[in-house]
Amino acid sequence: MSTFRAPKGTFDLIPPSSAAFLAVREAMSETVRLAGYQYVETPVFEDTALFKRGVGESTDIVTKEMYTFTTQGGDSVTLRPEGTASVLRAALQANLHKAGQLPVKLYYSGSYFRYEKPQKGRYRHFSQVGAEALGAEDPMLDAELILLAVEAYRRLGLREVRLLLNTLGDRTCRPVYRAALQEFLRGLDLDEETRARVEINPLRVLDDKRPHVRAQLTDAPRIADYLCEECKAFHGEVRELLTSAGVAFEDDPNLVRGLDYYTRTTFEFVHDGLGSQSAVGGGGRYDGLSEMIGGSALPSVGWALGVDRTVLAMEAEGLLAQEVSRVQVFAVPLGEQARRLLFGVLGQLRAQGVSADTVYGARGLKAAMKAADRSGARYALVAGERDLADNLVQLKDLVSGEQIPVAVAEIIPTIKEKLS
Ligand code: HAM
Repeated sequence: MSTFRAPKGTFDLIPPSSAAFLAVREAMSETVRLAGYQYVETPVFEDTALFKRGVGESTDIVTKEMYTFTTQGGDSVTLRPEGTASVLRAALQANLHKAGQLPVKLYYSGSYFRYEKPQKGRYRHFSQVGAEALGAEDPMLDAELILLAVEAYRRLGLREVRLLLNTLGDRTCRPVYRAALQEFLRGLDLDEETRARVEINPLRVLDDKRPHVRAQLTDAPRIADYLCEECKAFHGEVRELLTSAGVAFEDDPNLVRGLDYYTRTTFEFVHDGLGSQSAVGGGGRYDGLSEMIGGSALPSVGWALGVDRTVLAMEAEGLLAQEVSRVQVFAVPLGEQARRLLFGVLGQLRAQGVSADTVYGARGLKAAMKAADRSGARYALVAGERDLADNLVQLKDLVSGEQIPVAVAEIIPTIKEKLS
């Protein structure tokens, strides 16, 4: 063992479980590609000011959790704590919103960094797949994105993901609600830190998980009673579309999310098998973010799904494969001539899309067959001197144990047929 360990709050993706992470990323990405989302990749660090303005000065993320440092050149940069601000910044910079039809549909997959207190499901380095639809104010887009996330979880076999839904109003009705909520919260028995929050970001208090705070919030004013006509109609349509698509959701008036840019639709996907870090994904509409970071008005909506927590959810539902098969075919050469022949065959198999591996270094038959079993291959291709003299190799089915001789010229077609 090396003297070094992965830093606190981080972990390595190593086989065999790394395969599950790839599968989750791929299922999420494939789902949004099918709806016309195109891949975007931005730097892992940005100007610190982008996140301060975008995510919000009063959020936990900005006040406590950012990895911020000064470069040799004296600039303050921050490892991205989330993807939305960066993706919007990139789209604005490249004028993607002026290049063609709106919305601009983008998706991404990568590493994010938050200096959080590590626990199960909460890491300092974690992985998200996200999707953002920029430049359209259409409730169908909100519903479509939610549906795509539901479909991604379905593809992965998850059955116990619940959807929580809320709306936060817009710049017309939210300030009225905010003031009413603030008024109510000022009358409660709260500690100093929470009282400060009441003044800066009262909606966040609704998200407080502590029982003595929760108990005082039962009669808090509800956003639903303050929505303007436009927001009411918009949210009604999102709910209508979800219902007609057969998507089950729970209205959660306390769902405010930990980032400041949201307007109207907010949602979260939760899984009850994960303990306290139950959110496997979340998102919402952010009609004002573009202007907050210096761009033109660009009403948008998006989500990010947590890859690490989705893998944990799959584990909780018993969906992780116990044994992973590395390759389909394993070559076992006995002698120099066989090694050369099978070296060529391996190349041909791979060129045909069949995964194949072999043994390296001088190994006897027994060790080589053991390696073949370990690889998870379905077939072993065994070539010895005597068979080769007859231009034959042995093809062994490692599941049934059955072995048949195959002419060298027939190896590729025979294996391809058996695997199909
Ligand atoms: P978020 O809710 O902060 O939203 O993160 C989305 C998901 O990332 C969470 O539901 C969770 O699964 C995962 N996640 C967040 N923090 C951690 C952590 N410390 N360890 C492990 N997993 C974590 C956003 O990031 C928004 N950018 C989503 C969005 C996109 N809104 C609009 N567009």
